[in-house]
This record gives sequence, C-alpha cells and structure tokens, in this order.
Amino acid sequence: MPSDFPRPRAPVTRRALLGAAALGAGAAALCAALPASAARHAGARYTLTARPGRTALRGAAKPATEIWGYEGQAPGPILRVRQGERLDVALVNRLPQPTTIHWHGIRVPNDMDGVPDVTQHAVAPGEVYPYSFVCADAGTYWYHPHGNSAEQLGRGLSGPLIVEETTPPRVDRELVWVLSDWKLKDDGSIDPDFANAHERSHDGRLGGTITINGAPGGEVPLRRNERVRLRLLNVANARIFELSFEGHDPWLIALDGQPVAPRRLGKERLVLGSGMRTDLLIDATGDAGERDLLLHYPPGDDPVAIAQFVYRDEAPLRAAPLPPPTPLAANPIAMPALAGAERHALVFAGGARPGMPMRPQPGADPAHPHGAWTVNGKPLIHAAGGHDHQRIPPSFTLERGATVIFALKNDTVFDHPIHLHGHTFRIVMRNGKALETPLLSDTILLTQQESAEIAFVADNPGDWMLHCHILEHQESGMGAVFRVTS
Ligand code: C2O
Ligand code: CU
Repeated sequence: MPSDFPRPRAPVTRRALLGAAALGAGAAALCAALPASAARHAGARYTLTARPGRTALRGAAKPATEIWGYEGQAPGPILRVRQGERLDVALVNRLPQPTTIHWHGIRVPNDMDGVPDVTQHAVAPGEVYPYSFVCADAGTYWYHPHGNSAEQLGRGLSGPLIVEETTPPRVDRELVWVLSDWKLKDDGSIDPDFANAHERSHDGRLGGTITINGAPGGEVPLRRNERVRLRLLNVANARIFELSFEGHDPWLIALDGQPVAPRRLGKERLVLGSGMRTDLLIDATGDAGERDLLLHYPPGDDPVAIAQFVYRDEAPLRAAPLPPPTPLAANPIAMPALAGAERHALVFAGGARPGMPMRPQPGADPAHPHGAWTVNGKPLIHAAGGHDHQRIPPSFTLERGATVIFALKNDTVFDHPIHLHGHTFRIVMRNGKALETPLLSDTILLTQQESAEIAFVADNPGDWMLHCHILEHQESGMGAVFRVTS
C-alpha cells in the first residue's frame, strides 16, 4: 500500500460496487479497501435490490445465516457521494413484503424520506422505486427501511451512506464499521419473534451475536504511525453500544455526521444509541500489550474485545504520527436564533414499570396490543408493512422558517435514542443545563428520566417523523408526526 493512500474522491461505479461485495465476508471485512476512482462524476447512481441472501454472521467456520439485505448483503453496500452532489438510488424490492428506504440523518426533500404512510406508499414486492436527492451535508449517514422496521432491519436491511467532504482530513486509510447485534436461534437462523411483547415493553430486541460489517470482529492490522479514519455506525435494532479503546487514544472528529472540534477520547466512553454514528481518527501509536476496541455491557460492565488492533513486523509508515487534526468544515445548517423560538414539549412515556403489570397505554389500538409507549400521551401505531396506505395525520404543525425548540422529557425507566427526520438539530440544553457548544445531531440518546432541549429551524416543508430508534419502541407507539408548512 502506498504511504499516502489516496482518499477516494469519486463515488464508486456500479462495477466497483459489485467488487465491494467483500464487505461483510469474514474478518477481512474489517479492512476492506475502499474502491478508488480517479474519474470525477457529478453525483452517484446505484441500484439497491432488497432481497434475501446469506451472511456468515458467526464467522466463516459456521454455516451462514439467511438474512434480508441490500444486494443480499448485511450490511448493504457503502454508498458514497460527494457533498453537494446528487445521489440516485433505484430501490428494487425482491422481499416478500413492502419496503422503503429512509436516509437516516440526510436532509432530503419530504417525498424522498421513505416513510410509508407519511411520505410515500410502500414499495410492493417486484416494484422499483427511484430515490433522488442532493446531499447538502458531508458526513457518516446510513440507509434502512421504515416500515415493519423491527423485522426488516432485524433481518439485516441497512447500509452506510457516506457523503464525502470537499476537503477531507488527511488520513492514510479509512475504515467503515457497521456495528450490529443479531438475535439468532441455536441453529444460527434469525429468531423470527419480532413482535415479542416483553422486548417491546423493555429494552427492545437485544441479540447475543455482535458483528462488525456482518461478521464477528477480528484482527485489524495497523502500521505504526499511520492515521486511520474510523467511521462507526450503530444499526442495531435496540442495543446501545458503549465502547472504549485500549492502547490507542483516538481523536473524535464528528458525531452523527456533524463535525465537532477534534478532541482526544481519553477515558471517555463512546456511547452510540441505535442509529447513531461517530467519526474517529486513530493514530497508530500503540505499544505492546492490549490494543482492543472494547464493548461494555452496562450495568454488569464486563467489557469484551470486539476488534483487536495488531502491529505487524514492518517499518513505520512515517517517523512520527501526524500533527493534531484540524476541524472538519461545518455543514450548511441554518442557525436557530433561540430568542423568540417556539417551544413544544414532548414527553416520552410508557413501557414496563417496576412492580407494575404490563398493559397497553390508554388510547392504544386494540388491534395492536403492544401500544406500550406514548409521546404526549398518544401512541403512534404504524401499520406493519404500511400496506394500508392510510396517511398518518400530523399531531402538530410548524410554520416554515420558524425556529423551534423541542423540550424532550424521557419519563420512563429506559433509555431512548430519539431521532428527528428532515432536520438536523442543535442540542442546546441537557437536564436543565445549557450546553456551551451546542451539539449538532439527528439522534439524541435520552437516558432514563433525562430531559433535553433541541433547537432547529423548521426549513424543510412536509410531514416528518420523530421517534425512538429502538425499533420495538417505535413500532409500539413511541413516535409522532409533525408538519412543516410549505
Ligand atoms: Cu433511522 Cu426514522 O429512522
Ligand atoms: Cu425507546
């Protein structure tokens, strides 16, 4: 590998995409080189066929698991487009049920948002659906279905979407790691109990098989003094990944796609709720001994290594590590003027309570007995698969261009990653304390009983969802639809 591995500038072509099928094929998946192309394209064009496939989730030594995936792979192919350019994706549905694609974290026009019964009709088996939008913001994003989500994502339908900076940071290599967990039966097949009432009213569906890019983690060779950009994505239905590094001290450069002032992670644990992402720079300066990426399982908290960084017996890439990184350029997101902002309180409630029998929340549709969660007292029940084509009405309306504050309160004994569609918000307050540097995000993890305020300019007209990204919570009521006038 040349000492200055060029950063891919152009999106992969269809042919390169097929070559990228190696992603998810065993431990090599951790280090899959990115297809590079010298050609410049205005935009990127892909076909994504959602279909059954097989992935060796438990490693090459065990029989592969039947999954549903884009191009039959879990995770799906990495989609790449340059900031400011257009992404065209033709979704081909070869699943046995309707589906859509939602572009998580990307500010798209409403009709491209991929939410059945809110922004489009679900795409029936055999149908093709063209998605097309300009990616205004650089960063690490992802794509996934938005109907019957617990099953469709739980069977493997999701993939990374990377919008490349016009001026990317200097790195030698880039790794994209899609973190997930899988609930498998003893024979290795996917447990089909996606409507499990206990999971729905507690922590969601947690699987015991942890994967990075669809395979058990493994060894990742590093060359001394190289700098690796690591993009981490949590696509699990419910698991909150709590990670730390042993033997390396990465730079944190972006959260949920949005740049942050680079800082060393130090002792801080990286907490990624379902749907959340982070970008790190790892300088390969490890010493002898343990150099692991550790996954912590709170509250018991016995960390396990999910990847090991190893140094081969080779000359350092350069004499010393690179100097501290400069911040990534900010994305063109409107700055909310908080004075005079319009406030909306959103209270998340429900779920199991210690010592209380589980019961559906008041107002829950008797046809969906697991209406276990509410937003402002109301469960949002999304018909499974979205094939009834009934438009879900918005529960409140925002004037286009208005600056709004959503005052979020988690009034439950569980943690919830709350995701907003169509807009990127600033976290301006947490538990009553103003944040000195408001954090930009699309998904905010509210731990039990936590409150937070998020602010944004409602500049994207249409009907948008806000929901918990623990998919079992989302499907049992924890969501709302709001409208931005046109
Ligand atoms: Cu990642 Cu509404 O979804
Ligand atoms: Cu939740």
